[in-house]
Amino acid sequence: MAKDDTIAFKRQAAYRAAGFVASGMVVGLGTGSTVRFVLEAIALRLRQGNLERVVGVPTSLRTEKQAQELGIPLTTLNDRPILDLTIDGADEVDDSLNLIKGGGGALLREKVVAQASRRNIFVVDDSKCSTRLGTQWALPVEVIPFAWQVETDFLEALGARVSLRVDQNQAPRRTDNDNLILDAAFGPIGDPAGLDLKLNARAAIMAHGLFLELATDLIVAGSDGIRHLT
Ligand code: A5P
Repeated sequence: MAKDDTIAFKRQAAYRAAGFVASGMVVGLGTGSTVRFVLEAIALRLRQGNLERVVGVPTSLRTEKQAQELGIPLTTLNDRPILDLTIDGADEVDDSLNLIKGGGGALLREKVVAQASRRNIFVVDDSKCSTRLGTQWALPVEVIPFAWQVETDFLEALGARVSLRVDQNQAPRRTDNDNLILDAAFGPIGDPAGLDLKLNARAAIMAHGLFLELATDLIVAGSDGIRHLT
């Protein structure tokens, strides 16, 4: 798929999802290039006056900055702990609406916000659809710096090839929470629920990119049009 097509599909899915935002809602704002289009669409509706009294809860410092620049009013999760709707992107999705997220490194706050939200719409272009999660994407795992080697060993013992995520200067990449990210390439994951339990049991793992049973809606855009799965 050409890069331009991917961008166009992300934009189409994002604008469709932004149509589900209603006046007065508290809206979780995900992170990434697809969400950037969601923010634009919400800001446009606010400017046009067909949306009002909407407040957003950003899932990253990056999204916070983008939303501020676009004039979207923001609040915090502590002030508004129940969200009506969250819209976010994903890196890989399966037929059961389970996801891998965290390519942009915002997985911990994204999962926290998704868990606080009544409805979670994820928006993707159709290149991200897989029969099995892990086929296209390594699983991002956020760990405290104190224990990154221990958790690397643990993930390798589970069968993953693991790399510590670095920035463009080859320095370990810090998340918004000042943690590190291990990218764990498992290959196709046969038992996502079992892996979820094992990772959740580790004290130094703050979050991992498996988002299971969190999506209420998935909007997929591709050359055949837009599909809305619930
Ligand atoms: C951010 O941490 C991620 O979970 C993103 O939501 C995901 O990587 C999708 O990103 P794009 O919309 O940029 O493809």
